[in-house]
Formats: sequence, structure tokens, C-alpha cells
Amino acid sequence: MYLTKDEQAVLDGEKGPGAQKAMELVTALGKIYGADGLVPITSAHLSGASYKTIGDGGLKYLEDLAAGGAKVTVPSTLNPVGMDRTRWREMHINEHFAEKQLRIIGLYGQMGVQETCSCTPYLGANVPKCGDHVAWAESSALSFVNSYIGARTNREGGPGALAAAILGKTANYGLHLDRNRRPTVVIDASEMEDSVFDYSLLGQAVGMAVGGGVPYFTGIRPGVDEAKALSAAMAAAGSVALWHAEGCTPEAAKYDVSGLEHVPIGPAERQKAKEKLNTADEPQLIAIGCPHLSPKEMNDIAVLLKGKEKKRKDIEIWFCTSAAVRAQCPDAVKEMERFGPVLADTCMVVAPIEGMFQRTATNSAKAGNYLPTLCSQKVVFGETADLLKVVE
Ligand code: F3S
Repeated sequence: MYLTKDEQAVLDGEKGPGAQKAMELVTALGKIYGADGLVPITSAHLSGASYKTIGDGGLKYLEDLAAGGAKVTVPSTLNPVGMDRTRWREMHINEHFAEKQLRIIGLYGQMGVQETCSCTPYLGANVPKCGDHVAWAESSALSFVNSYIGARTNREGGPGALAAAILGKTANYGLHLDRNRRPTVVIDASEMEDSVFDYSLLGQAVGMAVGGGVPYFTGIRPGVDEAKALSAAMAAAGSVALWHAEGCTPEAAKYDVSGLEHVPIGPAERQKAKEKLNTADEPQLIAIGCPHLSPKEMNDIAVLLKGKEKKRKDIEIWFCTSAAVRAQCPDAVKEMERFGPVLADTCMVVAPIEGMFQRTATNSAKAGNYLPTLCSQKVVFGETADLLKVVE
């Protein structure tokens, strides 16, 4: 793997131990995956921010990096953490967890990372351009920017994305290269309903059918919210990090897909995907906002709730979004908070809900996949309007 003189100097420790650690990690990944060298990046998005997921070991790693003088050199945003930074008591979070979580956020801030704490930075805080090389962690977000925007990133882990952010470079392999961005399978999507939930089901069904690869869709034209749900579901049900949609995504027109295998996904496959995720009847918590709610989704929920009353006080409701979107939608927030808190910075999967609830309802296929494994939950999986009917 070729390194310039400057890159070699970083590896030799001439720019301090923080940058050296970062270079060691990026070059190790490059060697494993056969990179020819490093490529400059324009931004990074970092995961590994919840105290629940990284624990004291991750906290120590961040402390060591920060103490070594590590600073990010490109605009970098942070994924959701284990709690709302200011409203964590409403989530039943204890003082010990809160103190550790705030330290983690502070360490990222010390390294120059924007403390956005959202999995949808592409809605405003961090928006790559088509063709940009970036280093993004968070499977739903990186799939969205790869596919819907045409930026280029691998499926980075938290430490790899942070190392790349410090260097302003990542190893040039995988989805940074033209040859790996070609479609591998055609998905003939039929009879789609015009709803975000149906795109979540489509993503779940495709992830279950093909696992990985680069799906090329025919028959759909997703908007931003639909693409967000589709990306999240395919990344969770399978390991899809890039997809194309005919006549819709920026790179789709480049490819001739005539020789590829076709997989039809219609209402029957989507129904099967829905049934797979349903493992409970009545929830204790209804959590909406995976990935984080967009302004349009916030307003749609507010319209849905207008004039209704929450009758079931025993069932909690959390709405999850970014601080920026929450601030943009004061009227929607007012309507929604008659039912439950609109939480920023966090989500139902990275918050420590396993000590609080056993049955959670969600409209998200991604959350439906992770709630059982990462939060020990049984899941009620359905459309937002149907889930909210339970409490009216
Ligand atoms: Fe975002 Fe949490 Fe879902 S990080 S994509 S809301 S699991």
C-alpha cells in the first residue's frame, strides 16, 4: 500500500500519538482489503457514541485519543447516543449512565466533532455531494449517502470512521472504487404503496432475500423519507451499503443490468417480512423515529394526533429525532408531546431500554431487527397510525 512522505511521517509518529494511532488503524484496514493507497475525504460521520454500546473500554479509548492531541480535520458528525442530553430523566436514565454519556460526547467535542447526535445528518448537518469520498459509519446513513446522493463510503465501523476523520483520508478500497459500485441483482418491486412504511417492508424483504450485494430497483421512485427507510431496512435485514433505483438515484443510468438475476418483491414478500418482525401483541413502549424523524414525518404525525387524546397512560411513547429537526418544528412538537416526549440525540436501540421495558412497538424495520438482539425486546411492528391507535 503506497503512502506519501507526509503520510509515512504521520505513521512514524511525527504528528503526535493521536494521529499515529489513527494512521495505524486506517493503513491496517487498507492492507486487509487490498487498498492501493489513501484517498482524501470531505466528511465523516461517527458511530460508537452511546455509553450503552461502547462501555468503559470505549470511553477509555476516546480519552487516550483526545489526550494524544487527536483532532478531526474534516467536518464530522456524531450518531445518536444513549439519552437525550437534557431530558434524560424522562427516559428513566440514571445519574451514572448520564455522567458517562456526557463525558463521551464531551470527548468527541474536544476532538472537533460536531455534537449533532443524529443518524440523519444528511438532512442538514452534514450533506456530502455526489462523487465525494467520505468515511461514514451508521449503516442506514452511509447507505443513504452512497445510494441517494452518490457519495462514496465503505461500511465503516466507529473507530475506522473516527481515524479517517482525524487524518482527513481513508483507505481506497471497496465502494470508493467504480468497479465495486456496479449492481449485482435487479429487484423488480411491484404494487408499492405510497408510504414510508411500505419502503421499510421492501427493504426488509430485500435484505432477507439477497443479504448483501448492490441491488438495482425497478418500479420505485422513493423520495427522501422513503429512501431513508429503505436504506435502514436493507442495511439491518441484510448488509446492503449501496443500492440504485432506475430513473431515480444518481448513478443508476450508468449501468446495463440486462444480464443480472431478477428478484421480484411484491405484496406477498413484504407481508412475510412484516410477519417476521412481529413477536408481541401489546407494547409497553411505542418508539417512532428510526432513522430519526424528518420535518415532514414530524408534521405528518402531528396531523395524525390532532384532536385525539392519549387514553392509555400505561403505555409510553417516544418520538426520536435530531435536535435540529425538533427545533424546526415547534408546532408539531407541541401536538406530539401531548402523547410522549420528542427526544433528540438518542433512539430506542442505543438507549438502555432493556432495563425498563420488555415489549416495544416500532414502525421501523431496522429497529424491528435490532430491538430483540440489542435491547432484549419483543416487538410489535406496524404502521405509525396503527401503533398509535392503541393509546387513543
Ligand atoms: Fe438511527 Fe437508532 Fe435507528 S441510530 S437508524 S434511530 S437504530
